[in-house]
Amino acid sequence: MITEKVEKALNEQVNAEIYSAYLYLSMSSYFDSVNLPGFAQWMKAQAQEEMVHAMKIYNYVIERGGRMLLGAIEAPQTQWENPVAAFEATLEHERKVTAMINNLVEIALAEKDHATNIFLQWFVSEQVEEEASVDAVLQKLKMIGSQGQGLFMIDRELGSRVAPVSLPAAE
Ligand code: FEO
Repeated sequence: MITEKVEKALNEQVNAEIYSAYLYLSMSSYFDSVNLPGFAQWMKAQAQEEMVHAMKIYNYVIERGGRMLLGAIEAPQTQWENPVAAFEATLEHERKVTAMINNLVEIALAEKDHATNIFLQWFVSEQVEEEASVDAVLQKLKMIGSQGQGLFMIDRELGSRVAPVSLPAAE
C-alpha cells in the first residue's frame, strides 16, 4: 500500500504528465500551422512520450493498491510568437516538471516509501535527458535565428524523431 500523501502526489504527477502531452500536442499543431512539419512531428513524439510517463505512474499507483482519481486537464496555450518562444516555453515547462519529480522524491523519502523512491529514480534520469534534448534544439534555433534555410534544415532533422507508438500519418 502507498500512503495517502504519496498517492495524492503521484495522482498530481499523472495530471501534470497528461498536461505535458496536451501542451506538446498543442505546440505540434502550432508548428503545422506555420509550415514546419518536422517540428510538428517532434512535438507529437514528445506528446506521446509524456503519455508513456503518465501511464508508467498510473500503472504503478494501481500496482501498489492505490487509486487514480482523474481530474480536469488545464487547457494549454495554443499560439507562440516563433519557434524559439515555443522551445523556451518547453524548457521552462520541463524544468517545472523536474522540480515536481524532485519534490515527489522528497515526499517518498519523508514517508519512508523506498519502493516509490526507487520507482522515481527512472524519472529523475529521464528529466536530465528531457531538459538536455530540448535545450539542444533551443540553442540551435537561437544560433540560426529566423533564417529560412537554417530553419528548414532543423525542421528536416527534427522530423526524423520516431514516436514511441507508430502514429497515423498526416494526410
Ligand atoms: Fe514527462 Fe517531459 O516530462
